[in-house]
Amino acid sequence: MFNYNPGAQEPAATVKTSQGDYRVMVSRGAIEAIGPEMRQAGVNGRAFLIADYAMFPLLVRRAHEALERGGYETHALILELGEEAKTIATATKVYEWLAEQRAERTDCVVSMGGGVTSDLVGFAAATWLRGVPVVHVPTSLAAMVDASIGGKAAVNLPIGKNLVGAFKQPRLVIHDIDFLDTLPRRELAAGWAEAVKHALILDDDLLNTFETHAEDLAALSGDLVEPVIRRSVEIKAEIVSADEFETGNDRVLLNYGHTIGHAIEAVTEYGTYLHGEAVSIGMMVAAGISQRQGLISEELVDRQRTLLKRFELPVVLSDVDPDTLLEATTSDKKSRGGKIRWVLLRGPGRATTSRDVSTKVVRAALNDVLVS
Ligand code: GLY
Repeated sequence: MFNYNPGAQEPAATVKTSQGDYRVMVSRGAIEAIGPEMRQAGVNGRAFLIADYAMFPLLVRRAHEALERGGYETHALILELGEEAKTIATATKVYEWLAEQRAERTDCVVSMGGGVTSDLVGFAAATWLRGVPVVHVPTSLAAMVDASIGGKAAVNLPIGKNLVGAFKQPRLVIHDIDFLDTLPRRELAAGWAEAVKHALILDDDLLNTFETHAEDLAALSGDLVEPVIRRSVEIKAEIVSADEFETGNDRVLLNYGHTIGHAIEAVTEYGTYLHGEAVSIGMMVAAGISQRQGLISEELVDRQRTLLKRFELPVVLSDVDPDTLLEATTSDKKSRGGKIRWVLLRGPGRATTSRDVSTKVVRAALNDVLVS
């Protein structure tokens, strides 16, 4: 019999936001405690579990049973939630189902899946009846250390990604490390890219830990998987708590590697690289720019490259025209008045931003990663 004492387990982080504070629980078997954790977070009513088909049937059943054991009348909707499903049309399917179930404002929505799932379900929860509580149960490493924390919720339009959305903070986030055991190795590596990014921009100690234990972490072996994920979650939570709406100088740092990363995804039509893989190459370009701007030494660029390679992440790019890629960077959401705000390294575990980077420098850094 599972016996859970809410409050007995320490959260990896508490995120402090204008919509309320929430805990991020990280452990093996964390899903079993979702019921008591939701009660503690003040979430009541019925639970509408919306899960990616990839979690069906085993993990969905586990979550469903845990919710019912926690006293929540639970209903589940299973959807194919790949990037191409992150649309208003899929959100409408969610609304239609919630309408059929007569879901009310006092009920809650629970998302279960990767980053697309938390973005799309978060968006549906922000808009259904002008907003119902949402709990995220991310099942990919990328969603755990990034998408599930911070409330960014959106769908894509044919004219661009994430163009319609909201800041919808969850009431609780549950990371069950067990879920990672079935994640394909490539997806796992793409998730590690975001966690390594957190270390590169903000935590030299974490960077050293990654460097000492890369192969074990990549294989999910050893004792450090949970502590490293907890630390990565803590970093994300601190940034969101300090700069919830990305109006200051903190949250933007999470975009390290993303200006080029998003451009790579766009020019390869989202079909070649996983997001974390594109970010890995983007981080190499950003490090190259940082070095050319005199902010870091070549040694740190090499350190970053070696580490990313140890996670089997790509660090070079082939079959992409540099002009097309440069053109794609100018449509990045972070560019304002035509000037991109680059996130650059200024040391191990330290980042900064600059709008003062010449096209010549970007081109040179890009050339370093392009192979024919
Ligand atoms: N994924 C970046 C952020 O949450 O701000």
